Amino acid sequence: MTAPILAIDQGTTSTRAIVFSGDQKIIGVGQQEFKQHFPRSGWVEHDLEDIWGTTLATVRSALAEAKLDAPQIAAIGITNQRETVAVWERATLKPVHRAIVWQDRRTADKCEALRAEGLEPMVTEKTGLLLDPYFSGTKLAWLLDNVDGLRARAEAGEVVFGTIDTFLIARLTGHFATDVTNASRTLLYDIGSGTWDDELCRMLGVPRSMLAEVRDNAADYGTTHPALFGAAIPVYGVAGDQQAAVIGNACFQPGMVKSTYGTGCFALINTGPDRVASQNRLLTTVAYRLGGRTNYALEGAIFVAGAAVQWLRDGLGIIDHAAQSGELAANADPNQDVVLVPAFVGLGAPHWDANARGAIFGITRSTGPAELAKAALESVALQTHDLIRAMHKDWAGSRDTVLRVDGGMVASDWAMQRLADVLGAPVDRPSINETTALGAAWLAGMHAGVWPGQEGFAAGWHRDRRFEPQMPEADRSRLIGLWNDAVSRTLTRVN
Ligand code: G3P
Repeated sequence: MTAPILAIDQGTTSTRAIVFSGDQKIIGVGQQEFKQHFPRSGWVEHDLEDIWGTTLATVRSALAEAKLDAPQIAAIGITNQRETVAVWERATLKPVHRAIVWQDRRTADKCEALRAEGLEPMVTEKTGLLLDPYFSGTKLAWLLDNVDGLRARAEAGEVVFGTIDTFLIARLTGHFATDVTNASRTLLYDIGSGTWDDELCRMLGVPRSMLAEVRDNAADYGTTHPALFGAAIPVYGVAGDQQAAVIGNACFQPGMVKSTYGTGCFALINTGPDRVASQNRLLTTVAYRLGGRTNYALEGAIFVAGAAVQWLRDGLGIIDHAAQSGELAANADPNQDVVLVPAFVGLGAPHWDANARGAIFGITRSTGPAELAKAALESVALQTHDLIRAMHKDWAGSRDTVLRVDGGMVASDWAMQRLADVLGAPVDRPSINETTALGAAWLAGMHAGVWPGQEGFAAGWHRDRRFEPQMPEADRSRLIGLWNDAVSRTLTRVN
């Protein structure tokens, strides 16, 4: 028995809704971009009413394109940008402030101060994370410290915190719930015991009553208010977008790795039921929890991937469409060694330098758009290489892995070939590139009992193309050497 499933993919720059048919084909899509607010340098905010408005609009247009009514949808799966902090009134669901986005660096000093107090080992032991502004906790603390009267209201139980999944669930169904993958990115959740942690809440001054109930990824999150879409639809799947991509790329076996190229790039290796502590500044995180059983992952997060291509388009104006970046890069002069370190918002794994900023090295009089496009795409491959190398050091089981990729940038054959070349390992591009939405849809469809189980779903995963490495080893080492040198000159601190 199969039935259509609707996935809501609430991302950093756009909201998408996708209807998958019972046999997992895309039959309806709605997509809307929304405004990014940059109130100060390094600050990034989203208006939660934009997030809500685009969610409703895209669900409705996806249903219309699929020519389906709400009663024909078996269930909804939600996936979302992670770590972004929302605070709203419990009774009215009205936000008290714009959401502070995962990219926002305003709490860099606070993280530094907590690190100076020697708290990072305790934080890492419990959460698998590091003290970096990327994660929700210090942003929530910032709101409690800086919004007039908010702390008193929080202590009185009037206002609550959630990541974007929690906000959407609250508005869609009225439940106050989150899933374990989103919880695992907050700095407040102990991924070993599977509970919100009092010591972490105390460290950040967060009242426990602000936090939602944590559920499995495939679970009952309530049914949508009938007035929203014309009928009540159950919400049966929820996962942070990178974990949803692990699922959508069917990386269920320990050792399987996926890397998603959206605004940033996030590579996760499934480490199975083993919680591996990184010695190389990767994150330990929950990959998924199904039927109460947790699978962990090691994650490398880099903040600028597709954003580098956006910079070529919007900042430099050297391309009109992201898709042109590969063509331009292919025409670059092979004798120029231009290296871009796209630390536009600091550097993530494995460096974690919130204060680093972007740099370009090796420019000559003949450097032009093609060399900059090549440097931008190569920087994505080289950053991925840093992550995979760190994974290899942390977990021997990762050595022979083929990388499964997804996200907007993987449409570029040039970028994917360069990725395989830089990694010195094959790269598989899936036949359905919407793996994040597919992962959320599978959680919901499987829980509804209308889509196949894990094995059946994994058997249905197919690749569109495998990119085999072709670059001579001497060229590869030289490129990596230039990159390492450029990064070392960009860092503001040594870990
Ligand atoms: O951790 C941040 C990540 O979840 C955002 O992903 O695809 O919205 O840029 P994306």
